[in-house]
Amino acid sequence: MDKSAKKKIEALREELHRHNYLYYVKAQPEITDYEFDMKMKELEKLEKEYPEFADKNSPSKRVGGDITKEFATVVHKRQMLSLSNTYSEGEMRDWDQRVRKGLGEDFLYTCELKYDGVAISLTYENGFLTRAVTRGDGVQGDDVTTNVKTINSIPLKLRSDDYPKEFEIRGEILMFRQPFEEFNTERAKQGLQPFANPRNATAGSLKLQESSAVAKRPLECFLYSLAGEELPSVSHYENLQKARSWGFKIPDYIGRCENINQVWDFISEWKEARPDLPFEIDGVVVKVDNHKQQEKLGYTAKSPRWAIAYKFPAEQASTILESIAYQVGRIGTVTPVANLKPVQLAGTTVKRASLHNADIIEQLDVRLGDTVLVEKGGDIIPKIVGVNKQKRPENAQKVSFIEQCPECGTKLVRYEGEAAHYCPNDQGCPPQIKGKIEHFISRKAMDILSLGEGKVELLFDREKIHNAADLYDLSFDDLIGIEKTYRDELTGKTRTVQFKEKTVKNILKGIEDSRDVPFERVLYALGIRYVGQTVARKLATHFQRMDKLMQASKDELLDVNDVGERIAESVLEYFSDSGNQKMVNKLQEKGLNMAVKEKKKQTDNKLGQKRFIASGKLQNFNREEIKEAVHNNGGIYVSAISPKLDYLIAGENIGPKKLEKAKKLSIPVISEEDFLNMIQ
Ligand code: IVH
Repeated sequence: MDKSAKKKIEALREELHRHNYLYYVKAQPEITDYEFDMKMKELEKLEKEYPEFADKNSPSKRVGGDITKEFATVVHKRQMLSLSNTYSEGEMRDWDQRVRKGLGEDFLYTCELKYDGVAISLTYENGFLTRAVTRGDGVQGDDVTTNVKTINSIPLKLRSDDYPKEFEIRGEILMFRQPFEEFNTERAKQGLQPFANPRNATAGSLKLQESSAVAKRPLECFLYSLAGEELPSVSHYENLQKARSWGFKIPDYIGRCENINQVWDFISEWKEARPDLPFEIDGVVVKVDNHKQQEKLGYTAKSPRWAIAYKFPAEQASTILESIAYQVGRIGTVTPVANLKPVQLAGTTVKRASLHNADIIEQLDVRLGDTVLVEKGGDIIPKIVGVNKQKRPENAQKVSFIEQCPECGTKLVRYEGEAAHYCPNDQGCPPQIKGKIEHFISRKAMDILSLGEGKVELLFDREKIHNAADLYDLSFDDLIGIEKTYRDELTGKTRTVQFKEKTVKNILKGIEDSRDVPFERVLYALGIRYVGQTVARKLATHFQRMDKLMQASKDELLDVNDVGERIAESVLEYFSDSGNQKMVNKLQEKGLNMAVKEKKKQTDNKLGQKRFIASGKLQNFNREEIKEAVHNNGGIYVSAISPKLDYLIAGENIGPKKLEKAKKLSIPVISEEDFLNMIQ
């Protein structure tokens, strides 16, 4: 029986892989959804009955189930470079001249769309998907394999058998416009914050801990390049065609061009057709097709010389400015936001746009009732870039910037040299207090992610907390059963969400765990103006203890490397406030780390006299500190990459030449996180 069960399971898997491909990649299904579901159910039943035949690449894995607590950092086998880009036809033609000169022989271009999603690197070994890693900083990214496996158009097992034993295929994960809109509407219905655009929704989805939740997100994947030792062809274009036959979704929108005029025709065509595409693009990528010629042209520090991205200008739309609202941010910045007559722009409906500050309003000379030009730039929130004065109604009112805080009524101030207006009431203005607590719990600060922005807001509104220190007073009884009723903007119906036992336990555990967060992060968590992570680390290292920092004079503060007048004054002002002093004292009483922990001195031999060198920007160490860390843990820090080196620690923006050298010498390249694990 077991033998026939195994056969049946294998046959069903094979069949489902095929139907999955026909449905999601080819869009040519041969069976109905119902028949597909029945086959899947049968497979799931058998897999449950015979766990000994489990397979992590089974089509049943598409629905997810596994949970990733923390995404492991993985160093890319081949660095994921970025593309140099341009908005100008002239620069495109200059680039073409350079390529022509650099090659001095005939060549072809491949033109592709520049899909606006999240880059991904997929590794296949013996025909199976073994790893999916995000781009990260190009040198190292996050291992999101479990989540990526839920994306139906990504093959778990390849078709045909003429694929290389090991190869990497790269592409872009994205959401199509229509499914994105539907997904966002659904989110709003549930009282959740909608995503600003499909790219953000995609990035957010890939980082979800529960893969079953990822499976429900409408994610797609377009593949656009192959890398490996044994690729079928020297032509990039041919390789993509081959990859299509292995079951990958390779978009049809690819052109082969013989010269820059043909390239420009391709670009012009797609610039025109862009709004009609069912997904977002932000330009066209042009690549020299032949891999050998690519190598001949080589790379600059950051990008290949053989490729360029032509970026389309941001899409614009014209609409009416109906009113202006003012938002108060975490540090009291007051931002004017335009309420617009809803207008379609780059696939989404825009109702609001940022007006930045009073100076911009003045420069634009924008008035209520004006017809304004809205643009989606790199920012999430669209901005107003122009006013059509010909269409100005006669009674259009000039905008006079508010003088009092819309939240707490305090008179607004403007600091010298800054364009923004601020509400100075940082202790009593609700959005500022909430913002401070939200900053306090954020990942890089106290990392209490079991509380989110929504929950902080709820606890604050219910007067369970008045500042960050109050979090440490919360008990199970304070939290259990707290409810919030949302009004669904779309349907007008109300919905209630309640804190249940599991949520409450999670919140309390998150708060408890935060007591271990090191001093420099506690300092950062306080949210002192101008004290970011780096400054917090420098202050912590210099003063070692909170009480010393609190008593420091301006001159003593100025002694710290990189601390100037602005930061010193801000620190002094923060600690001279009695409310802040009280809160810091309370945090100390609650057991948070208020001093740098004694460093272990060279007693550890965790690194076993191995030789290390670091290159690129590290998150946790500067040059001196990494040397010290290697030394204190029994390693040797060397000054150059040589055959004697044992490990290269790769930081952000490490140069490709260094990586190349390490690769040639077969020296393992490790991430900063790997190094931290070694010394922990
Ligand atoms: S090729 C070495 N092709 O653009 C160049 N990239 O700035 C490798 N992108 O991170 C990239 N569509 O996420 C390439 N057809 C396409 C692309 C594309 C979108 C993204 C990709 C990359 C970024 C480069």
